[in-house]
Amino acid sequence: MNQWYCSVCHEIINNENKPEICEICRADKRMIMNQQEIPQSLEQVRDLARTKLKGICAAYPSCDGSFDKICQREAYGKPIGLGGAGQGRSFRANTEALANIQLNMSVLGDHFEPDTSCSFLGIDLKFPVMASSTAGAQKYNDALDETMFCTSVLKGSKEAGTIGLRGDTWFYTLDDNPSLNAMKACDGYGIPIFKPRSQDILKKLIERAEGYGCKAVGIDLDGCGSTIMARQGQPVFRKTVKDIEELVKFTTLPFIAKGIMMPDEAQKCVDAGVKVIAVSNHGGRVLDSTPGVATMLPLIRKKLGNSVTITADGGVRTGYDVLKMLALGADAVLLGRDIIRAAVGAGTLGVKLHLEHIRKTLKKAMFMTGTKTVKMADSRILFNRN
Ligand SMILES: Cc1cc2nc3c(=O)[nH]c(=O)nc-3n(C[C@H](O)[C@H](O)[C@H](O)COP(=O)(O)O)c2cc1C
Repeated sequence: MNQWYCSVCHEIINNENKPEICEICRADKRMIMNQQEIPQSLEQVRDLARTKLKGICAAYPSCDGSFDKICQREAYGKPIGLGGAGQGRSFRANTEALANIQLNMSVLGDHFEPDTSCSFLGIDLKFPVMASSTAGAQKYNDALDETMFCTSVLKGSKEAGTIGLRGDTWFYTLDDNPSLNAMKACDGYGIPIFKPRSQDILKKLIERAEGYGCKAVGIDLDGCGSTIMARQGQPVFRKTVKDIEELVKFTTLPFIAKGIMMPDEAQKCVDAGVKVIAVSNHGGRVLDSTPGVATMLPLIRKKLGNSVTITADGGVRTGYDVLKMLALGADAVLLGRDIIRAAVGAGTLGVKLHLEHIRKTLKKAMFMTGTKTVKMADSRILFNRN
């Protein structure tokens, strides 16, 4: 008898041959591994992802949208894959903006253990890093089932001590919605971010999310330019402040506006009752040639003041990057591509291993900059030439 491991629910299955399905969580054999295959390290998760994402993403140590990476080099005129829109300038701007910020190394003072804990919308988290809303992994070489992708992200995030967000795309419908299927499977411990669909459809999706006990809901307002959604009969729209206000009033849950890059628009969303401003350019996937998120974040924080919750995502690859985003004004930081790769590579286990690694490097970054708590991260730890 052989032992098999379900990378979504961690069940050990005794069977002569590889099981077709995990009887516990219904994950299919793409998520089931033999004992020797179970990754022990992030490197092994990346190796698994690299094989499964062949021709789409090589899970490079530096994921920056440059032309020497297959996502950008081969994308021209092809589906976007994991790359950025157009020439990938916004994707690169995200990583470049972070690279251009430097940390002040501080070594004097009392010895301490950095405290990474924080609270996000009243939820206690071990560290201020979350899985960003992403969707569509199933379409990459048919590497995994989309609901299992979403479940892996939500479960892996929870096991690492944080919470996962989930996205929305053209093959998510009211009847079969992988994000909401996963929310249900995880007792609502997650946050769905919907595309800016019609108000009526959004209300139905929000009602479902409420019913499953989700912790918040939101829209990626920057998803309004998606042409594939319309081609697939699921049109998306620009939203007015009134539309947002209507949705905020409609739901009992805190509302997140994602894809905000302009201080004035951030303020308008706050005035409409939005609880979280998610500063993001969608990983550079919706408009080429925007500034990097790390460039716009301090301007948006300055405009909104300290009482509004702000998240940031785009190009964050390490705990050092996380600390920079916190110091620039984010309350929490989101990871996109890295979490997709981790889930494709090794399901829940991959996501957990990835997030735990980020927490470790965040702790190191905090220690070496003399940042005792997350709240203490501010511009004083950033190098300023003047
Ligand atoms: C393949 C892929 C799919 C994505 N799908 C969504 C989505 O459905 N909804 C959404 O709000 N953002 C989506 N995003 C954007 C992410 O939430 C996030 O803003 C971005 O990936 C952060 O940049 P990073 O990948 O450099 O970490 C997607 C990003 C990628 C790479």
